[in-house]
Amino acid sequence: MDGSRIAPNHLARQLAGWDLGKGALHTLLADALRDVLAEGGLTPGSVLPSRRELARVLAVSRMTVGAAYDTLKDEGWVSTRHGAGTRVRMSSQRCAPDWHGDRLRTYAAPDTPLDLSSGALPASPLLSRALRGPWTASVRESLLLDRFVPRGLESTREAVAAAYSEQGLATTTDDIVLTNGSHHALSIVADVLVQPGDTVLVEDPTYRGALDVLGRREARVVGVPCDEEGIDPLALETAVRRDGARLLYVLPTAHNVTGVTWSPRRRREVADVIARTQLPTIDDGSTADLHAGQHPGHLGALVPPGLSISIGSLTKLFWAGIRVGWIRGSAQVLDAAIDRRVTTDLAGSVPSQVLAAELLPLAAEARDLRRAELAHTRDLTVGLLSEYLPGWTYSVPDAGACLWVDAHTDTVALAARLARARIVVIPGSHFSPTDNWTTHLRLPLGRPATLERAIPAIAGFLAEWAGGPREVATSR
Ligand SMILES: Cc1ncc(COP(=O)(O)O)c(C=O)c1O
Repeated sequence: MDGSRIAPNHLARQLAGWDLGKGALHTLLADALRDVLAEGGLTPGSVLPSRRELARVLAVSRMTVGAAYDTLKDEGWVSTRHGAGTRVRMSSQRCAPDWHGDRLRTYAAPDTPLDLSSGALPASPLLSRALRGPWTASVRESLLLDRFVPRGLESTREAVAAAYSEQGLATTTDDIVLTNGSHHALSIVADVLVQPGDTVLVEDPTYRGALDVLGRREARVVGVPCDEEGIDPLALETAVRRDGARLLYVLPTAHNVTGVTWSPRRRREVADVIARTQLPTIDDGSTADLHAGQHPGHLGALVPPGLSISIGSLTKLFWAGIRVGWIRGSAQVLDAAIDRRVTTDLAGSVPSQVLAAELLPLAAEARDLRRAELAHTRDLTVGLLSEYLPGWTYSVPDAGACLWVDAHTDTVALAARLARARIVVIPGSHFSPTDNWTTHLRLPLGRPATLERAIPAIAGFLAEWAGGPREVATSR
């Protein structure tokens, strides 16, 4: 029997949306816990969070949790022994028990009016223009294709390679494999490079989807601290040597969530660590298109070629719905990636790749439009926060698509309460491999109209919250 304790935040994420149905809260909670157990999400013998801990992260009373635990005990799912807590007795164990890939789950029901859970941006106006242009003729030409192209269309790979070369990282068509977005790219690369139990280093905070991907691979994910110049190179080198890391995953430009772009000095320092420790590194450039000023260059231009893998997509500049991304890497990594991808989706969508080839040359124009749009929403949001939530603190980013704010309160509990009021926000701990950033929240800047209504509503909610949320020390 495994006596490990289930982290309250982890269980809260598995229970996402538990309170959206109708009925008494303790019944809804018992139903949701039973579903998690029946799906095999918890290991027999592991210990559930205490009533107090689970009550805190779900923002309910201890009595509600107690009543739900009692129901599951009566049904034989869990057992309790005085002093030993509530243990899982039965679980169907269909999933890997340690799977922590639960961060992209949201609390949002489809009809949630104030949904700030997603960082997705609206389609660029350039899309309508491209769709009126020669696109249909090019798609018609591609109908002659009578086979799958797992590597991706040559013309689109050429456009991606040209963009890298223009940004100072010499790239040929053969260096690129197209995917269905950068999340897919990351997932394929992780399948190729990560074995269960391998240590993977990430920035803390990082893109929450990466934590899901690495969790699914059963990696041991270790967070490395960052400052306003980027990841800390000393802490990085220590972590590589101490933990025997197999891979590093980073967001050096317009980081999702902090908006930080690594300084040129920091890039060189980190590249030196990578070269010294021979650490394969994934540079996720998905957000890099949202950089401020000149493109700061790619990490791949500074590290030995065999160690550098870059991924990217059209999502931020143009639209997430296109689902075209890519991997730039060595022939060895790309060949293995193609082997993996044919077992999952055979190949990407041809019309989407044709559209991508038409859009990529418009990147500079798309970037100017996005920057203006995001700067406008950032200023609007800063104005709303100073008016309605003046106690919340943050650095104003000059890049990226979100505002990373410190709400100076327990944001897991706050998010759980707000979800019940049909306002969905993602707490900071979702972006940390070890559930740090417990007082932070991510505000996505792609939704000005929602922010305009949500920020006053959150302020109103906090004012009404009986006694107000317990103030806690700011924590990372
Ligand atoms: C850093 C980062 N990587 C990857 C993704 C996944 O995007 P896509 O698969 O649409 O390219 C996102 C989306 O928000 C992201 O912010």
